[in-house]
Amino acid sequence: MSKILVTGGAGFIGSHTCVELLEAGHEIVILDNFSNSKPEALNRIKKITGKDFKFYEADLLNLSDVEKVFKENDISAVIHFAGLKAVGESVQKPVEYYHNNITGTLMLIQAMRKYNCKKIVFSSSATVYGVNNPVPYVETMPTNSSTNPYGYTKVMIEQILKDVYVSDNNWSVVLLRYFNPIGAHKSGLIGEDPNGIPNNLFPYIAQVATGKLEALGVFGNDYDTPDGTGVRDYIHVVDLATGHLNALNYALEHNGVEAVNLGTGKGSSVMDVLHAFEKACGKELPYVIKPRRAGDIATCYADTHKAKELLGWEAKYQLDEMAADGWNFTKNNPNGL
Ligand code: NAD
Ligand code: UFG
Repeated sequence: MSKILVTGGAGFIGSHTCVELLEAGHEIVILDNFSNSKPEALNRIKKITGKDFKFYEADLLNLSDVEKVFKENDISAVIHFAGLKAVGESVQKPVEYYHNNITGTLMLIQAMRKYNCKKIVFSSSATVYGVNNPVPYVETMPTNSSTNPYGYTKVMIEQILKDVYVSDNNWSVVLLRYFNPIGAHKSGLIGEDPNGIPNNLFPYIAQVATGKLEALGVFGNDYDTPDGTGVRDYIHVVDLATGHLNALNYALEHNGVEAVNLGTGKGSSVMDVLHAFEKACGKELPYVIKPRRAGDIATCYADTHKAKELLGWEAKYQLDEMAADGWNFTKNNPNGL
């Protein structure tokens, strides 16, 4: 049976997607270099699903290691998560970010081409919509600007994959533009496990709830939003994971390039997320209002029509369930995986 290669499969979104792939009956191979994840995530995937898979500890930057995976396995499609993702760090280390994300993707594409595997689902981001498009974001909007090197890696990789298709119409490329994934698997066995002090809202709140961090800093309460705090389209990571299954099935059956938003279409403010988490953990959580964070926009949410029409997928979990499942993971794994 042919297999699906999952790059970055030990990471937050990758691990949840591997669970859904295995439960749907796919055979998978995972490649990861553990630069932002831990081997324990792989044990947890096995524990949840009761299924086994091949794993390669390898860096995408090493072409011969990547080729080895294709040589030793019959790979029919790739779901490509592997990349560095911290916006602030990318401003400090642009060369490392461009090299890891872009060169890594180029190595992967070269290996795929060599072994005649031409189907790829890529982890893009709502960040490609930049700062000038009005919400909700529609896939047809211009996506040629960003506010940071991380975002530009997504803009550029989308372009590279479009160009690959132009050069060879046998390729099938699905660019999934994620909105804000949060929450965790119902089992509480896998979830988000960031290194150091979290940059993102949800894991930060989780660490305030465990007492590791004192108070949430709310970055601005003077935005043009209902309560003045930033509004985002939070999506349960399990919904996001099932979206990959639909995208994969689409890619296996069609050639072409499609960009698709994966979001709920609904915006929630920083205070909404904080209150949902308070409800989940059963206590009030301290916060302080801070200045706006550089590069942030007021509101970001998805137009979800295309995901529904093209992939037959829509998100089903609400914010309260995202908070409950996220807290369940944090509570069970206070020190991460
Ligand atoms: P993550 O850091 O948890 O997972 C990424 C995985 O890729 C990690 O396990 C890391 O070790 C691995 N990796 C990184 N560089 C590698 C390399 N050169 N070779 C091999 N493995 C490598 O991040 P995530 O949140 O699961 O995100 C997955 C993808 O989705 C990323 O491409 C990210 O940019 C994208 N994305 C994430 C979000 C988000 O908010 N989490 C939003 C939009 C897009
Ligand atoms: N926020 C706070 N305090 C914090 C952290 C965040 O108030 O400690 C606010 C932000 O100002 C923003 C909202 O919470 O209004 C969400 O911030 P996140 O950092 O969690 O998420 P972003 O929307 O800024 O960015 C995330 C990923 C990007 C990705 C983008 C769109 O970090 O990589 O979603 O998918 F591009």
